[in-house]
Amino acid sequence: MSASSEVPPKEVYCYLWPESAHRRYSMYENSEAFARKLDEADPLAHFRGKFLFPTFHDGEVVYFSGNSLGLQPKKVREYINEELDDWATYGVHGHFMSRRPWYSYHEQLTGMAAKVVGGLPHEVVVTHSLTTNLHLLMVSFYQPEGKRNKILCEAKAFPSDQYALESQITFHGLSPKEHLIEIAPREGEELIREEDILAAIEQYRDELSMIMIGGVNYYTGQLFDMESITRAGHAVGATVGFDLAHAAGNINLNLHDWDVDFAAWCGYKYLNSSPGGVSGMFVHERHANRPDLKRFAGWWGYDKQTRFQMEPGFKPMFGAEGWQLSNAPVLGMAAHLASLEIFDEAGMDRIGEKRDKLTAYLEFVIEDISNRNPDCTFEIMTPKDKSKRGAQLSIHAHGMGKELFDKLSEKGVIADWREPNVIRIAPAPLYNSYEDCYRFGQYLEEVIS
Ligand SMILES: Cc1ncc(COP(=O)(O)O)c(C=O)c1O
Repeated sequence: MSASSEVPPKEVYCYLWPESAHRRYSMYENSEAFARKLDEADPLAHFRGKFLFPTFHDGEVVYFSGNSLGLQPKKVREYINEELDDWATYGVHGHFMSRRPWYSYHEQLTGMAAKVVGGLPHEVVVTHSLTTNLHLLMVSFYQPEGKRNKILCEAKAFPSDQYALESQITFHGLSPKEHLIEIAPREGEELIREEDILAAIEQYRDELSMIMIGGVNYYTGQLFDMESITRAGHAVGATVGFDLAHAAGNINLNLHDWDVDFAAWCGYKYLNSSPGGVSGMFVHERHANRPDLKRFAGWWGYDKQTRFQMEPGFKPMFGAEGWQLSNAPVLGMAAHLASLEIFDEAGMDRIGEKRDKLTAYLEFVIEDISNRNPDCTFEIMTPKDKSKRGAQLSIHAHGMGKELFDKLSEKGVIADWREPNVIRIAPAPLYNSYEDCYRFGQYLEEVIS
């Protein structure tokens, strides 16, 4: 099919696009008309209107930072205002009298959050912040005993995860140098080979206590096969958990079926739920009734039927709720509620389908520009295989430094820069358009020429 300003007939592109779209570049065109046609055919296009785009720039922005901080859903203000009004009206009685009683506020988020990560409702709870939740879960799932005392993780995990892992190890009187096994890309490569993760699990089979990996690597955008890693970890007797900061709301997750022991994610990236917003936790149902599991406890994790008897001696709630420490931060949860409702309406299947198409189109636009400008080439380090990535593309800008990024920013591109020459961009399927991808390409081309 030759490039043309006409989108191929719907049956044709529906047939072609889902499978290895990036290998079918001949059907794409780097033009405004083509991008607009794709937007017209996009069943999720109207969701863009549910979000607020930054206004600080003179013109319209291209917002590609949903992997860092998602945009504000328009309903957030309304939902937060309702809580402020109820607080003003009822004071402390708002715990039971407000329209969404604060006492059980988190419960209305559970079902929708569980759908986003593929968990059962009693396996999921929304509470605290991400690093707090990772610590709380690792306190339970990292129980070094005898020579089974090591943790396996990816090298160059997000710094907060590295510190959390190191401090969990030292908390048990062990040494990160000896007890933290970090799997790095091979010499001269940027992505971690999954076979190397599996080989290391086998190599340390009698010494591994826990595996904890970022489901999607924050820097490269590489998505790991969580099901295989979990299976391999369980086969050697280790517990397996994931940091899903860059996966929740981005990847089609199936945590229950994959048999993952635990996971945590933040609400503020692809889940658009306010800066530093509330986090989610997953604990597989086989651990739902495990009062024997060590944990750091707080009153909100106590059996809710008898919580207010305020007796000493901790009795955990059934399921993930048993890991809660504190009562709900309602204002942050109101933002999360507004966003989860959008996810629920769109559905992760449709979001995932658009993610692959949108990312493939953006990839095509970047490679098209790169091919036509040999002095300034862009090399995408994120895997080409769509089953190994989500919405993020991490790009090496060869022959260019931060000046390129600054000029893009001046034009209204909101993205992320990492020294020495990496741009991270993430088209979020709920609010980004094919036209955004085209405009990004135009700006890129203007800047390099
Ligand atoms: C992969 C990953 N893990 C952990 C964190 C830390 O999150 P928080 O500050 O919400 O605890 C981040 C924050 O960006 C992250 O990207």
